Amino acid sequence: MSASTNASLDFGHRVTGLIYHEFLRNMQEHVKPKSYFEIGTLHGITLANAKCASIAVDPVFRIQTDIVGEKPVCHLYQQTSDEFFAKHSLSEIFGEPVDFAFLDGMHLFEFLLRDFINTEKYCKKNSIIALHDCLPLDNYMTLRSQDDPLWLNTKYTGYWTGDVWKIVPVLKKFRPDLAITILDCVGTGLVLVTNLDPNSTILADNCQALIEEHAYDFDADRLDAYWNSVTITPAESLLDSTSLAAKFRL
Ligand SMILES: C[S@@+](CC[C@H](N)C(=O)[O-])C[C@H]1O[C@@H](n2cnc3c(N)ncnc32)[C@H](O)[C@@H]1O
Repeated sequence: MSASTNASLDFGHRVTGLIYHEFLRNMQEHVKPKSYFEIGTLHGITLANAKCASIAVDPVFRIQTDIVGEKPVCHLYQQTSDEFFAKHSLSEIFGEPVDFAFLDGMHLFEFLLRDFINTEKYCKKNSIIALHDCLPLDNYMTLRSQDDPLWLNTKYTGYWTGDVWKIVPVLKKFRPDLAITILDCVGTGLVLVTNLDPNSTILADNCQALIEEHAYDFDADRLDAYWNSVTITPAESLLDSTSLAAKFRL
């Protein structure tokens, strides 16, 4: 995939906006978070964007870039996010709430749900939590296992979003207080969530029931219904500081 802006791919469903990591970099230039938290780092492309105090969690880091850059401090935790949250407090490490978080770890609904619940506890109302991969381009890339032979049917070889998209309808239903913006970022969308409530327990209280309810796999009708239900905002429309400030003030 080209690293230039406005890349477009030919899918059944389409997302044709800015590349997600370019948007994240640009957004951070404007909103200037004081702390950055990332789950799922892989080569470090998205962690490298952050210029503030940062914490990154990944069970297998494969860093290939300068992830430190201008950061005053950068903590790497080589463990799963569940292990991280069981042992560590983001507020204690940062000494303040998290300003900006990017959740891009295990691409299964229950993992992202737990990552969201655990991250929100350490946020303030106007922190921003970004979620990756919630606009899957076809049903094959949403399969819950990459060992499933049906995955080979996707036209977008190598793309695996898993079923993290299911979190968007859940957040809308259970947390109407959240402000959710779904961006058309290439390759598979970017969701920005703010108006957070670190004291909310509704998702945690319903976590197990939600996981059981969403354990289904490969349901094209439900994915189509989801695509028909979402309002997608062009990432380009949020590139300037005035538009960003109107929506997101840290
Ligand atoms: C899609 S990659 C992240 C890509 C990176 N954010 C970027 O945009 O370049 C997903 C990463 O999640 C990590 N991961 C898998 N399971 C995880 C878990 N349970 N907790 C945290 N990270 C996990 C993988 O090791 C992998 O590096």
